[in-house]
Amino acid sequence: MKKIIIFDTTLRDGEQSPGASLTMQEKIIVAKQLAKLGVDVIEAGFPISSEGDFESVKLIAKEIKGPIICGLARTRKEDIDRAWEAVKYSKKPRIHTFIATSQVHMDNKLRKSKEEVMQMAVDAVKHARSLCKDIEFSPEDSARTDLDYMCDIIKAVIEAGATTINIPDTVGYAEPEEFGKRIKYVFEKLNNIIKSNKVVISIHCHNDLGLAVANSLEAVNNGATQVECTINGIGERAGNCSLEEVVMNLKTRKDFFKDITTGINTKEIFKTSQLVSSLTGIAVQRNKAIVGSNAFAHEAGIHQHGMLMNKLTYEIMKPEEIGWIGTTFVIGKHSGKHAVENALKEMGYDLTKEQVEKVIIKVKELADKQKVVMREDIIAIATDIAGELSKDEEIIKLDEIKVSTGNKMQPEAAVTLIIDGKKKTGTGKGVGPVDAVSHAIRTMIDPSITLKEYGLKAITGGTDALADVSIKIQDKKGNIFKAEAVNEDIMMASAIALIKGMNKALNFQRNKKGNRIHAQY
Ligand code: KIV
Ligand code: ZN
Repeated sequence: MKKIIIFDTTLRDGEQSPGASLTMQEKIIVAKQLAKLGVDVIEAGFPISSEGDFESVKLIAKEIKGPIICGLARTRKEDIDRAWEAVKYSKKPRIHTFIATSQVHMDNKLRKSKEEVMQMAVDAVKHARSLCKDIEFSPEDSARTDLDYMCDIIKAVIEAGATTINIPDTVGYAEPEEFGKRIKYVFEKLNNIIKSNKVVISIHCHNDLGLAVANSLEAVNNGATQVECTINGIGERAGNCSLEEVVMNLKTRKDFFKDITTGINTKEIFKTSQLVSSLTGIAVQRNKAIVGSNAFAHEAGIHQHGMLMNKLTYEIMKPEEIGWIGTTFVIGKHSGKHAVENALKEMGYDLTKEQVEKVIIKVKELADKQKVVMREDIIAIATDIAGELSKDEEIIKLDEIKVSTGNKMQPEAAVTLIIDGKKKTGTGKGVGPVDAVSHAIRTMIDPSITLKEYGLKAITGGTDALADVSIKIQDKKGNIFKAEAVNEDIMMASAIALIKGMNKALNFQRNKKGNRIHAQY
């Protein structure tokens, strides 16, 4: 059997997708679940891009056992040193360095000649190899790179010490047959050097034309043995190749992909998908292959009839194979503490005893009101509690909030806060009640802080559902801080999320530490 290496970049390329930024605690939760899922490589971040990215790659390298932990770096020496500083704590560290090789990128972005780019790639790989024995190199925008030049650069970086060569379709431009031929050509032209150096040929496809999975599978058919992908296919623009789709294609169509396997424990797929969706706030479309809520729903009468006669009529995969539990609730009014503890453990949360107690109290309160608590409710509550600030970090606390709104008045809010131990009340008006609350809070703390994004999600159906508010605020220097809060009351959830965000901004100003998000390269 040929094992395909599953390289997960949810925490790097996936996290770069608009609105997906994760805190350090959230990244650790995802990384633990990825290890449970059985991915071979976790690309944990882009360490030079921010202090927050560096710290989270370092923490993941220290804490996650099993997969290779990889950090991304441009070809600059500082990038590579920073990536090494973060990944060196892992038992299996990898540095992934890249430079664009297509004419359009070299002329317009890099303003460098082919020879200069080749030299930069070789120097970077040599330097990385002097630090770490596992080095991946990507010629960025490969799918639009001159084939022979791409092969020359691949040969040169292998000679310089690269152990994995990744061929990215950075802009999602390739068609499957064409991409497959590109991979075949690399094997034909560089067969000796690839074999004698035991180099892994990898692919990394974006989904701009909806072909990321098809292109990746075609590359596997033509010899690629590492697939780079993300959970739920999240990523820049239209996203990356979806891990669950590639893996389930290889598994379900064993007859077609002969003697090919992966190390993925597919029973963990659904759970991982739900976790990533909940933590990033990026919903999974209902009809998404494999993990969408309709993926195993049979609505049409004729289909239902067929299914009752024999499931094979319309079901090509068993829902159990991906650990599908649908929207079944897990906790009822009379469920005990252990049920909550088990649910948290199952979902990969590693909370302190105190945090677990807090989750149990909140779940019980909710079960009293809602009768049943769904899996998504527990994820939201646990995430909220995992992201709570410590006592020292809580510079501002909410004391009271009053809101008036109606169809014949401008919404108004009065918010009382405890700031550094002293009570202060502020008022504000707005286009809606949430806007009024936001004005009242910001005028008291720092009016230059702006609310960049506000998202509201009712976690489970009904008017008594939990409201999950996620926000992003920006200080005048452009630093962005993300916060989330869950409450039965939308106004309370909004106020708590804003105050959490403000606390993060104030802590950042005081300690010059925090999670700057959205790495650029
Ligand atoms: O899409 C891309 O080219 C990348 C590289 C950094 C591999 O993400
Ligand atoms: Zn990418």
